[in-house]
Amino acid sequence: MKPIRKAVFPVAGLGTRFLPATKTIPKEMLPVVDKPVIQHVVEEARAAGIEHFIFVTGRGKGAIEDHFDHVFELNATLHQRGRDEDLARLKDNTPLPGRTSFTRQQEPLGLGHAVWCARDLVGDEPFAVLLPDMLHEGVTPCLADMIKERAQHGGQVIAAYEVPEHETHRYGILDLHGETQGTPRIHAMIEKPQKGKAPSNFAISGRYILSPEIFDVLEHQQRGAGGEIQLTDAMVTLMNTVPYHAHLFRGRVFDTGHQLGFLTANIAYALKRPDIGEELRAIIKELM
Ligand code: G1P
Repeated sequence: MKPIRKAVFPVAGLGTRFLPATKTIPKEMLPVVDKPVIQHVVEEARAAGIEHFIFVTGRGKGAIEDHFDHVFELNATLHQRGRDEDLARLKDNTPLPGRTSFTRQQEPLGLGHAVWCARDLVGDEPFAVLLPDMLHEGVTPCLADMIKERAQHGGQVIAAYEVPEHETHRYGILDLHGETQGTPRIHAMIEKPQKGKAPSNFAISGRYILSPEIFDVLEHQQRGAGGEIQLTDAMVTLMNTVPYHAHLFRGRVFDTGHQLGFLTANIAYALKRPDIGEELRAIIKELM
């Protein structure tokens, strides 16, 4: 079984839900406490042993590329001021030279199309996809657990979490034949089902382990929900030939692509911080 060495981060989305904040700043660079959302997700991938980070970007996303580079002047200034701890943290957050790649999705044709844009960079090996909007906070990193499950079950692994019934139309939804434990087989999936038509309330949480065959399917994939080329539809096509299993993520998922999820993530992550958590708790109580 080939190891999972590469991860794809689709970061081309316009972030219109966060205008005007995202007029000049990529939505992935908005901070959850003091780290950009994308940094949290890249750290999850690193913790799972990912070696190469592939970003599918778009116009106006240059800040992401700069963020994963060293800033010589900043490093020198921090060193001069004796702030070596901050310097070490910055360096630790930066991938090794040659371990990042950036390619552009030239048209906003959907998630499936964004993943397809990474085909040459991924090549002929299984890979992970992490959607930066979705932050997974659990005892162990979500992707690391998925890689272990793949080693046990083979095939593709898709992470899922339970969402309230009235939110199922916002996500890709899995049919698990009623199973809610272990690493169940996925029997079907549907992208953004109409209200009342979801086969379960297990939503795809934005973490995937896929095999490279998906690229051939994506190449010919017709537009689906929302008029976009959907990754979920391409996975459905492959379901007859490769087994899919669900990783039922038991921690908390924050959908930072929506205001409430973004704010909740900030509060939750800040409350856990030893330096500011206690004070923030008191301030929140006061505000209420
Ligand atoms: C995408 C996927 C969907 C998944 C969701 C998680 O949708 O297509 O299956 O449940 O991410 O955030 P999007 O949020 O891009 O509309």
